[in-house]
Amino acid sequence: MNRRVLGQKFARLATNAVMRSPQLWRVFRPLMRKQFDAIAGTWDTMRAADHLAPYEAALEAVEPQPARTLDLGTGTGQGAFAIARRFPEAEVVGVDLATAMVEEADRKMPDDLRRRVRFEAADASALPYPGESFGLVAHANMIPFFDELDRVLQPGGQALFAFSLGEETPIYVAAERLRTELERRGFIDFAEFTAGKGTAFLARKPVRA
Ligand SMILES: C[S@@+](CC[C@H](N)C(=O)[O-])C[C@H]1O[C@@H](n2cnc3c(N)ncnc32)[C@H](O)[C@@H]1O
Repeated sequence: MNRRVLGQKFARLATNAVMRSPQLWRVFRPLMRKQFDAIAGTWDTMRAADHLAPYEAALEAVEPQPARTLDLGTGTGQGAFAIARRFPEAEVVGVDLATAMVEEADRKMPDDLRRRVRFEAADASALPYPGESFGLVAHANMIPFFDELDRVLQPGGQALFAFSLGEETPIYVAAERLRTELERRGFIDFAEFTAGKGTAFLARKPVRA
Protein backbone atom coordinates (compact mmCIF):
# COMPACT_ATOMS: atom_id res chain seq x y z
CA MET A 1 0.00 0.00 0.00
CA ASN A 2 1.50 3.38 -0.97
CA ARG A 3 1.81 6.39 1.35
CA ARG A 4 -1.08 8.23 -0.24
CA VAL A 5 -3.54 5.36 0.28
CA LEU A 6 -2.28 4.90 3.85
CA GLY A 7 -2.83 8.61 4.49
CA GLN A 8 -6.39 8.40 3.15
CA LYS A 9 -7.12 5.39 5.33
CA PHE A 10 -5.74 7.22 8.34
CA ALA A 11 -7.88 10.30 7.56
CA ARG A 12 -11.01 8.16 7.35
CA LEU A 13 -10.17 6.29 10.56
CA ALA A 14 -9.54 9.57 12.39
CA THR A 15 -12.77 11.14 11.08
CA ASN A 16 -14.93 8.20 12.12
CA ALA A 17 -13.26 7.93 15.52
CA VAL A 18 -13.54 11.66 16.30
CA MET A 19 -17.17 11.76 15.13
CA ARG A 20 -17.92 8.92 17.55
CA SER A 21 -15.82 10.30 20.43
CA PRO A 22 -14.63 13.92 20.01
CA GLN A 23 -12.22 13.51 22.96
CA LEU A 24 -10.16 11.14 20.76
CA TRP A 25 -9.10 14.17 18.70
CA ARG A 26 -6.18 14.79 21.07
CA VAL A 27 -4.82 11.34 20.13
CA PHE A 28 -5.19 11.93 16.37
CA ARG A 29 -4.22 15.63 16.37
CA PRO A 30 -0.39 15.28 16.29
CA LEU A 31 -0.56 12.53 13.66
CA MET A 32 -2.96 14.52 11.48
CA ARG A 33 -0.76 17.58 11.74
CA LYS A 34 2.35 15.58 10.83
CA GLN A 35 0.57 13.98 7.87
CA PHE A 36 -0.57 17.29 6.38
CA ASP A 37 2.69 19.10 7.14
CA ALA A 38 4.44 16.39 5.09
CA ILE A 39 2.20 16.72 2.01
CA ALA A 40 1.57 20.49 2.01
CA GLY A 41 3.96 21.10 -0.90
CA THR A 42 2.23 18.58 -3.18
CA TRP A 43 -1.38 18.88 -1.92
CA ASP A 44 -2.59 20.87 -4.92
CA THR A 45 -1.32 18.21 -7.33
CA MET A 46 -3.28 15.51 -5.50
CA ARG A 47 -6.78 16.87 -6.16
CA ALA A 48 -9.10 17.11 -9.16
CA ALA A 49 -9.56 20.52 -10.78
CA ASP A 50 -13.24 20.60 -9.72
CA HIS A 51 -12.65 19.50 -6.13
CA LEU A 52 -14.32 22.66 -4.79
CA ALA A 53 -17.44 22.34 -6.99
CA PRO A 54 -19.76 21.36 -4.10
CA TYR A 55 -18.23 24.01 -1.82
CA GLU A 56 -18.86 26.67 -4.49
CA ALA A 57 -22.42 25.40 -5.05
CA ALA A 58 -23.20 25.83 -1.34
CA LEU A 59 -21.46 29.23 -1.27
CA GLU A 60 -23.90 30.43 -3.93
CA ALA A 61 -26.75 29.80 -1.49
CA VAL A 62 -25.17 31.74 1.40
CA GLU A 63 -27.14 34.86 2.24
CA PRO A 64 -26.97 37.54 3.36
CA GLN A 65 -23.39 38.27 2.34
CA PRO A 66 -21.25 37.63 5.44
CA ALA A 67 -18.80 40.28 6.64
CA ARG A 68 -16.39 37.98 8.50
CA THR A 69 -15.80 34.42 7.33
CA LEU A 70 -13.76 31.42 8.38
CA ASP A 71 -12.46 28.49 6.30
CA LEU A 72 -11.50 25.69 8.68
CA GLY A 73 -8.89 23.14 7.59
CA THR A 74 -8.07 25.51 4.75
CA GLY A 75 -5.07 23.52 3.45
CA THR A 76 -3.49 25.59 0.67
CA GLY A 77 -6.23 28.21 1.01
CA GLN A 78 -8.33 27.48 -2.10
CA GLY A 79 -11.59 27.54 -0.11
CA ALA A 80 -10.65 30.85 1.52
CA PHE A 81 -9.90 32.33 -1.91
CA ALA A 82 -13.27 31.05 -3.22
CA ILE A 83 -15.08 32.79 -0.36
CA ALA A 84 -13.18 36.02 -1.01
CA ARG A 85 -14.08 35.90 -4.72
CA ARG A 86 -17.73 35.13 -3.99
CA PHE A 87 -18.08 37.89 -1.37
CA PRO A 88 -15.97 40.86 -2.51
CA GLU A 89 -16.49 42.80 0.73
CA ALA A 90 -15.82 39.93 3.15
CA GLU A 91 -12.85 39.46 5.45
CA VAL A 92 -11.66 35.83 5.26
CA VAL A 93 -9.61 33.88 7.78
CA GLY A 94 -8.23 30.51 6.69
CA VAL A 95 -7.18 28.24 9.54
CA ASP A 96 -5.09 25.10 9.45
CA LEU A 97 -3.48 22.89 12.05
CA ALA A 98 -0.47 22.21 9.81
CA THR A 99 1.90 25.17 9.69
CA ALA A 100 3.33 23.97 6.34
CA MET A 101 -0.18 24.27 4.88
CA VAL A 102 -0.51 27.81 6.26
CA GLU A 103 2.83 28.69 4.64
CA GLU A 104 1.68 27.22 1.30
CA ALA A 105 -1.61 29.13 1.51
CA ASP A 106 0.28 32.37 2.21
CA ARG A 107 2.56 31.68 -0.73
CA LYS A 108 -0.40 31.15 -3.08
CA MET A 109 -2.22 34.31 -1.96
CA PRO A 110 -3.25 36.36 -5.02
CA ASP A 111 -2.10 39.97 -4.62
CA ASP A 112 -5.61 41.36 -5.02
CA LEU A 113 -6.87 39.33 -2.02
CA ARG A 114 -4.03 40.16 0.39
CA ARG A 115 -5.99 42.98 2.02
CA ARG A 116 -8.96 40.76 3.00
CA VAL A 117 -7.61 37.23 3.39
CA ARG A 118 -5.24 35.95 6.06
CA PHE A 119 -4.08 32.52 7.17
CA GLU A 120 -3.45 31.37 10.73
CA ALA A 121 -2.27 28.15 12.34
CA ALA A 122 -4.89 26.98 14.86
CA ASP A 123 -6.97 23.97 15.83
CA ALA A 124 -10.64 24.01 14.80
CA SER A 125 -11.51 22.24 18.05
CA ALA A 126 -10.25 25.20 20.16
CA LEU A 127 -10.18 28.36 18.08
CA PRO A 128 -8.42 31.55 19.25
CA TYR A 129 -11.42 33.76 18.36
CA PRO A 130 -14.15 35.35 20.47
CA GLY A 131 -17.67 33.89 20.40
CA GLU A 132 -20.09 34.88 17.64
CA SER A 133 -17.38 36.47 15.50
CA PHE A 134 -18.09 34.94 12.04
CA GLY A 135 -21.08 35.08 9.71
CA LEU A 136 -19.92 32.04 7.74
CA VAL A 137 -17.85 29.08 8.92
CA ALA A 138 -16.90 26.76 6.05
CA HIS A 139 -15.29 23.33 5.93
CA ALA A 140 -14.00 21.58 2.80
CA ASN A 141 -12.93 17.99 3.44
CA MET A 142 -12.50 18.67 7.12
CA ILE A 143 -13.62 17.05 10.39
CA PRO A 144 -16.25 19.29 12.02
CA PHE A 145 -16.09 20.28 15.68
CA PHE A 146 -19.69 21.22 16.33
CA ASP A 147 -19.45 22.88 19.75
CA GLU A 148 -16.62 25.16 18.67
CA LEU A 149 -18.36 25.92 15.36
CA ASP A 150 -21.51 26.88 17.28
CA ARG A 151 -19.47 29.09 19.63
CA VAL A 152 -17.74 31.20 16.95
CA LEU A 153 -20.71 31.49 14.57
CA GLN A 154 -22.88 34.60 14.82
CA PRO A 155 -26.64 34.11 15.30
CA GLY A 156 -28.12 34.08 11.79
CA GLY A 157 -24.75 32.95 10.38
CA GLN A 158 -24.27 29.84 8.27
CA ALA A 159 -22.13 26.69 8.50
CA LEU A 160 -20.99 25.01 5.29
CA PHE A 161 -19.57 21.50 4.89
CA ALA A 162 -18.31 20.17 1.56
CA PHE A 163 -16.84 16.81 0.58
CA SER A 164 -15.16 16.75 -2.83
CA LEU A 165 -15.83 13.08 -3.57
CA GLY A 166 -19.07 12.68 -1.60
CA GLU A 167 -18.99 9.54 0.51
CA GLU A 168 -15.73 8.47 -1.17
CA THR A 169 -13.96 11.45 0.42
CA PRO A 170 -11.44 10.22 3.02
CA ILE A 171 -12.66 12.89 5.47
CA TYR A 172 -16.43 12.50 5.11
CA VAL A 173 -19.41 13.02 7.38
CA ALA A 174 -22.85 12.01 6.07
CA ALA A 175 -25.52 14.70 5.70
CA GLU A 176 -27.81 12.87 8.17
CA ARG A 177 -25.09 13.02 10.83
CA LEU A 178 -24.42 16.71 10.16
CA ARG A 179 -28.14 17.42 10.43
CA THR A 180 -28.49 15.49 13.70
CA GLU A 181 -25.56 17.29 15.33
CA LEU A 182 -26.72 20.70 14.12
CA GLU A 183 -30.41 20.17 14.98
CA ARG A 184 -29.31 19.26 18.49
CA ARG A 185 -27.74 22.73 18.70
CA GLY A 186 -30.84 24.45 17.31
CA PHE A 187 -29.62 25.05 13.74
CA ILE A 188 -32.21 25.53 10.97
CA ASP A 189 -32.55 26.06 7.19
CA PHE A 190 -30.76 22.88 6.10
CA ALA A 191 -29.86 22.51 2.44
CA GLU A 192 -27.97 19.83 0.51
CA PHE A 193 -26.02 20.20 -2.73
CA THR A 194 -24.32 17.95 -5.25
CA ALA A 195 -21.78 19.22 -7.77
CA GLY A 196 -18.96 17.51 -9.66
CA LYS A 197 -18.33 14.28 -7.75
CA GLY A 198 -19.07 15.87 -4.39
CA THR A 199 -21.70 16.89 -1.89
CA ALA A 200 -22.21 19.85 0.43
CA PHE A 201 -24.45 20.83 3.31
CA LEU A 202 -25.51 24.24 4.59
CA ALA A 203 -27.20 25.16 7.88
CA ARG A 204 -28.05 28.36 9.74
CA LYS A 205 -27.63 29.19 13.42
CA PRO A 206 -30.90 30.78 14.52
CA VAL A 207 -31.17 34.39 15.58
CA ARG A 208 -32.03 34.49 19.27
CA ALA A 209 -35.68 35.34 20.09
C1 LIG B 1 -8.23 16.96 3.56
S1 LIG B 1 -7.37 18.48 3.86
C2 LIG B 1 -8.46 19.67 3.10
C3 LIG B 1 -7.78 20.95 2.72
C4 LIG B 1 -8.68 21.92 1.94
N1 LIG B 1 -9.81 22.34 2.73
C5 LIG B 1 -9.12 21.27 0.65
O1 LIG B 1 -10.29 20.86 0.55
O2 LIG B 1 -8.29 21.17 -0.24
C6 LIG B 1 -7.71 18.74 5.57
C7 LIG B 1 -6.95 19.92 6.14
O3 LIG B 1 -7.49 20.20 7.43
C8 LIG B 1 -6.44 20.40 8.33
N2 LIG B 1 -6.97 20.04 9.65
C9 LIG B 1 -7.33 18.82 10.10
N3 LIG B 1 -7.83 18.92 11.33
C10 LIG B 1 -7.80 20.23 11.67
C11 LIG B 1 -8.17 20.96 12.82
N4 LIG B 1 -8.71 20.37 13.89
N5 LIG B 1 -8.00 22.29 12.82
C12 LIG B 1 -7.46 22.93 11.76
N6 LIG B 1 -7.08 22.28 10.64
C13 LIG B 1 -7.25 20.94 10.60
C14 LIG B 1 -5.30 19.53 7.83
O4 LIG B 1 -4.05 19.97 8.28
C15 LIG B 1 -5.48 19.65 6.33
O5 LIG B 1 -4.74 20.72 5.80
